[in-house]
Amino acid sequence: MGGEPLWWEDAVVYEVYPRSFADSDGDGVGDLNGVRSRVTYLAELGVDAIWLTPFYPSPLADGGYDVSDYCAVDPLLGSLDDFDNLVKDAAGHGIGVIVDIVPNHCSVEHPLFQAALAARPGSTARDRFVFRPGNGDGSLPPNNWQSIFGGPAWTRVPDGQWYLHLFDSSQPDWNWHHDDVPGFFADVLRFWLDRGAAGLRIDVANSLFKDPELPDIPAGSRLHAPSPHHHRPELHGLYPSWRAILDSYPGGRTAIGEVWYDVPETLTPYLGSGGLPQVFNFQLLQAAWDATALRTAIDTAQAITDGSRAPWVIGNHDVPRPVTRFGVRQARAAALLQLALPGSAYLYQGEELGLPEVTDMPDEARRDPKFRRTAGLIPGRDGCRVPIPWSAASVTAPSWLPQPAGWGEYSVDRQAADPSSFLNLYRQALRLRRANPALGTGTLRWLDGPPGTLTFAREPGFVFAANLSEDTLPLPPHGTALLASGPIPNGTLPPHTAAWLATR
Ligand code: NOJ
Repeated sequence: MGGEPLWWEDAVVYEVYPRSFADSDGDGVGDLNGVRSRVTYLAELGVDAIWLTPFYPSPLADGGYDVSDYCAVDPLLGSLDDFDNLVKDAAGHGIGVIVDIVPNHCSVEHPLFQAALAARPGSTARDRFVFRPGNGDGSLPPNNWQSIFGGPAWTRVPDGQWYLHLFDSSQPDWNWHHDDVPGFFADVLRFWLDRGAAGLRIDVANSLFKDPELPDIPAGSRLHAPSPHHHRPELHGLYPSWRAILDSYPGGRTAIGEVWYDVPETLTPYLGSGGLPQVFNFQLLQAAWDATALRTAIDTAQAITDGSRAPWVIGNHDVPRPVTRFGVRQARAAALLQLALPGSAYLYQGEELGLPEVTDMPDEARRDPKFRRTAGLIPGRDGCRVPIPWSAASVTAPSWLPQPAGWGEYSVDRQAADPSSFLNLYRQALRLRRANPALGTGTLRWLDGPPGTLTFAREPGFVFAANLSEDTLPLPPHGTALLASGPIPNGTLPPHTAAWLATR
């Protein structure tokens, strides 16, 4: 990669879950004007872009990932004018807006699915989705595929046919082998790029195409391995056409694919030069808090690509919060690790506040279809989607997912006033990252350190050190300590602490 990096190659992107970010009209649901009202907060935090998860009209069976109109804003969240104004305000602070595209499935309420239901079996309208007769006397699903949210991936309609839904029954899968579907989505991409989206996040980017024969999946197959509905070769015919659309706009627009994998080698075909600009790198999110495991996770990713094509993440709206997965000290250190690795990084709202997963949410408050489809066996993802506590006083206000009573202590107003808060750690880290030429794109070189440590150099003149052991250890040789995730008394690195050091 020669020359100046493209903006997205070293960008810090902040994921906004709009319903849970900021509520401008006091109805208990966050909205686009709420995001607008916090653009200054995001600028002070120091992010380069925000990724908005779906804000489209939706019956909300899956938090908006059940889209009934791809080119509009849910009236509960605002209007297209609000979106345009958000793009404008954010641009005024040098912040881009990334829009979430959901091409694998829509909502049962989407007009084209309604048309499919109204049409006869075998019609063009039906063929835009994956309808099939059942097995046996027709009362059994066409194959053994399971919904990722639990239960069969098929639902029967009154005339006896079944439709495929890899997620909830309210999210029918599009048939990407149908001629209409690629053109429909090319128009959706252009719609948001025309409105100034700096990039697109592609939901379930690994599953659009299904083997038309719909064969059974052998028992015991790994969840994210290539299969009749995961990682099909047809995807790599589609994505170059999306890349051409992105490249036809000025300013270097990106698209980042959500591609889940069991082994990172699965990402390789997505990373061809004409494919999607980026895919998520879930290595830190899947690794345990253990020096060997993390080093292996980082090396495995780096052997395939770097963080400019595969940004680092430690959390998102689908997984338990880092503070709860790793521990509080550990999550602070993980933040410094993530932000020191080469390339781009995606933060999820609330990580900068050290919000924990809410594990004791009452069943009746839960909204995630995973909870319902597994009869409560899997608690689901509501615990990481609880609205942001902006002020200690606002925590008692009703919100669509309830905030626990003690959340005032995590609030932005409390943390802004506390120099040692999570928020100020993130603010300092992002400020240093912007200013330090060693951070962002580039390479890393591992340095020797005691067992249980992660130590690497970035050029020019930067050293990262983390102590994941239970012993206090000496800091590696350095000139200045730039930042640490906790106190580093007398040149030592206490357990579960990370430091950013300058060699001079
Ligand atoms: C991935 C999204 O991140 C998740 O929230 C959603 O439930 C599924 N895709 C289905 O759209």
